[in-house]
Amino acid sequence: MIDFDQSISRLGTDSVKWDGRAAVFDTDDVVPLWVADMDFAAPPEVRAALAARAAHPICGYTQVPEPLFESLIGWQKQRHGWEVEREWAVVTPGVVPVLYAAVRALTRAGEGVIVQPPVYTPFFSAVTENDRRLLLNPLRLQDGHYSMDFEHLEQCARDGGKLLLLCSPHNPVGRVWRRDELETLLAIARKHDLIVVSDEIHADLVYAPNTHIPLATLEDVPERVITALAPSKTFNIPGMGLAFMLCGEPELRRRVRAEFTRLHIESNNPFSLAAAEAAYRHGADWLDELMVYLAQTQEAVLDYSAAHLPGIRALRSEGTFLMWLDCRELMVARGLDDKAMQKLFVKKAKVGMSPGTLYGQAGAGFMRLNLGAPRQVIMAALKRMRAVI
Ligand SMILES: Cc1ncc(COP(=O)(O)O)c(C=O)c1O
Repeated sequence: MIDFDQSISRLGTDSVKWDGRAAVFDTDDVVPLWVADMDFAAPPEVRAALAARAAHPICGYTQVPEPLFESLIGWQKQRHGWEVEREWAVVTPGVVPVLYAAVRALTRAGEGVIVQPPVYTPFFSAVTENDRRLLLNPLRLQDGHYSMDFEHLEQCARDGGKLLLLCSPHNPVGRVWRRDELETLLAIARKHDLIVVSDEIHADLVYAPNTHIPLATLEDVPERVITALAPSKTFNIPGMGLAFMLCGEPELRRRVRAEFTRLHIESNNPFSLAAAEAAYRHGADWLDELMVYLAQTQEAVLDYSAAHLPGIRALRSEGTFLMWLDCRELMVARGLDDKAMQKLFVKKAKVGMSPGTLYGQAGAGFMRLNLGAPRQVIMAALKRMRAVI
C-alpha cells in the first residue's frame, strides 16, 4: 500500500509549485494547489532506478535505450489496447515542445491553428509565439458538462484552420472524450484536411468508468494524427523532461521531428531515460492505487463543496488530477471580478489555485484546483475557503 497521505516537504527543492509561490501569488503564505504536478513520491521502482543510475559516477552522453521503447509499447498495449510500432516513436524533451514543433512544421506563418478553450495555456502560445493565427473553437458548457461544438469546428476549418491542437483528456475541464466524440472530430478533420495533434499527457489518469481512447487508434491507416504523451504526469516525474511523439505517418513524423533536429535537440539525460523506463515497466500497481486515492479525494471535494461552498460548483472530472470549479455564482453574489476572486482565495483563504482566465476568456469565473496532494491538505484548504465565503 502506498501512503498518499504522507506529507513530504518540497521546500528548498526549487519546486515551481512551492518555492515559486511568491513570484506567482505575491506571498509564500499560501497552500499551492496550482501547477500540475503532485506532492506525492514517485513510484518506489522509479526512485530505485534513479538511485541506481546515480550510483554510477559518470553521467556522459547517453543514447536512448531500446528497452525504453519496449516499455512504452508494452504500456500502451496493456493500458490502452494500442499497438504502437517502434518506428512511430520519437523521444522529445516534453509534450509542449511537440505542440510547438508541429505548429512550426505543419503550418506556415499566418495560417490558422484551432484550439478548444478553456484549454492549457501553451496551446495558445504555441500558435501565437510562432506567428500563426489562433482560431478559437470554444467548448460548450451545459448543466456542468463540457462538449465540443462540432459545427463551429467546421466553421474554423472553413476559416482556414490547418491544424487542430486537441487536449485529450482535457485540461482544465477534466473531460475524457468519448469514442463517438473523437470519431466525429476525426471525420471533420478528414473532410477539411485538418491535421490533429492529440496531447494525451493525461491519458493514464482517468477515473472509472471512463476510458481514454487514443485518437490514433481510430484511424484505419495512419494519416493525420500526431500524438504527444509522456510518463510525466502519470508517475509524477514531470521535472525529468521526457516525452514522446508518436506518429504512424512517416512524412508527418519526419517533418515534426525535423524541427527538433534543426535545433540539435536529439538527446536526453541518463536520469530521465532511466526513470521513464522504470515507470512504464513497473508503475502499473502504483498508478492503480493513485487513481483510487485521487477518486476518493475528488468525491470528498464534490461532497464538501456541495454542502459548504455556496456559489461554487465543483465539476466532476472524468480524468486528470485537476478539478474545475465554477465560481460564477459566487462572483455575482459578492460582486467580484476574476482578479478580486483570486485575491480572496489567496490572501484571505491562503489557497493558491490557478485562475480560469489563464485558460482563455472561456475560463472567466472558474478556478482550477489541483487534487495531487494529501487529502487532508485539500480538505483544509476547502475549509478555509468556506470560512471566507
Ligand atoms: C495538457 C498538457 N500538456 C502538456 C503539459 C506539459 O507537458 P511537458 O511538461 O511535457 O511539456 C501539461 C502540464 O500541465 C498539460 O496539462
